[in-house]
Amino acid sequence: MQKLNIRGGKPLNGSVRISGAKNAALPIISASLLSAEPLALTNVPQLNDIGTMVKLLAQMGVKADRSAESLTLSAANITDKTAPYELVKTMRASILVLGPLLARFGEAKVSLPGGCAIGARPVDLHIKGLEAMGASITIEAGYILARAAKLKGARILMETVTVTGTENLMMAACLADGTTTLENAAREPEVVDLALCLIAMGAKITGHGTDKITVVGVEKLHGARYAVMPDRIETGTFLAAVAATGGDVTLTNAAPDTLDAVIDRLRESGATITATADTLRIVANKRPKPISLKTAPYPAFPTDMQAQFIALNCVASGTAVVTETIFENRFMHVQELVRLGAKIEIEGNTAIVHGVEKLTGAGVMATDLRASACLVIAGLVAHGETIIDRIYHLDRGYDHIEAKLTALGAQIERLN
Ligand code: EPZ
Repeated sequence: MQKLNIRGGKPLNGSVRISGAKNAALPIISASLLSAEPLALTNVPQLNDIGTMVKLLAQMGVKADRSAESLTLSAANITDKTAPYELVKTMRASILVLGPLLARFGEAKVSLPGGCAIGARPVDLHIKGLEAMGASITIEAGYILARAAKLKGARILMETVTVTGTENLMMAACLADGTTTLENAAREPEVVDLALCLIAMGAKITGHGTDKITVVGVEKLHGARYAVMPDRIETGTFLAAVAATGGDVTLTNAAPDTLDAVIDRLRESGATITATADTLRIVANKRPKPISLKTAPYPAFPTDMQAQFIALNCVASGTAVVTETIFENRFMHVQELVRLGAKIEIEGNTAIVHGVEKLTGAGVMATDLRASACLVIAGLVAHGETIIDRIYHLDRGYDHIEAKLTALGAQIERLN
């Protein structure tokens, strides 16, 4: 099990390039199943989750040609329409192959993702939406067995805003007979990025980025070239780190217009943030003010930034109230932060964070992807040495994070 050793208590200074968005690349890679022609992608982040998705598609028969941040996928000869438990249990986003397989081949056998550390994470809305489009779906021995001679356009009202649910149904609707409307659709930038890639492949989609998406089905999709959007959560994570440690950092290859809620809150904490179309500069030179927040679907404050802001609030000059409304168990980082000297109480889905002057390094354990990012931020702030265990969680979603932080002056190294 690899660990990270961080000697914190110093500001961060310099410039770092943001990688492509994991949560846009995953559905976009899955969209390659919708066409027999190649999908040539650039700005693909080099992450374990991306490797898992490519491995899943390769065992279905997709030809994948990958070099650095370029990835070309060809689903001309699909031989197997199964997403096996062994792979799906390591990455829930594998569910994103269900819609494309059903739409193009009329059949799919996808393992139920099962729960994960942060919550039950059901996929009932994915299934209900596909059934509304005419699919017959049964659950057998932990697998979703789906069949449809030809999906039909339908009006689908989703009772909960679901990001991958919206993505699965939008992809399925591209090849359905007729028009599909997705109401109460997710508005996340990653949903928009997927829609733009599908449109480049010949799909007829409007309303992406709003809560009502309309898809007019077409016979087939052709190949395309597409650049994945910058990762707004990686961007927010670096911004929160600088707000906590102090310093002056410029982020390049970013998409500032996809994280207004995060930038607004960081300005409230006292940081100075300036932006151009694709760069952000943050200057923080005093103790952060506490930031109370409530997570909610885009464009509100993202749940994937909640843990990072809890870390920031640990050293703020007052008390902050943080409420998590999306997932039922997304405070596992709190007990680890308490080990570093943080003062936090949990009441149901709310964390009350009493800012302290300083944190002190200790051994801590990562429990999920964003919790591990939170612990990295806390380690960068804490005086002394922090050792973070189980950092395989971190490698799922952050591309070369210790190299990027080292370039900003952090003292961080990976221990085997
Ligand atoms: C996506 O997960 C992201 N993952 C998550 O990022 C992110 O936290 C989440 O959206 C919310 O923004 C990817 O895009 C690969 P949801 P997803 O379906 O789609 C309930 C990270 O750190 N729900 O939007 O699985 C669900 O229980 C990861 O990068 C149903 O009830 O999340 C949750 O309470 C973590 N039934 C809420 O909706 C369903 O069928 C939102 O979940 C689907 C979801």
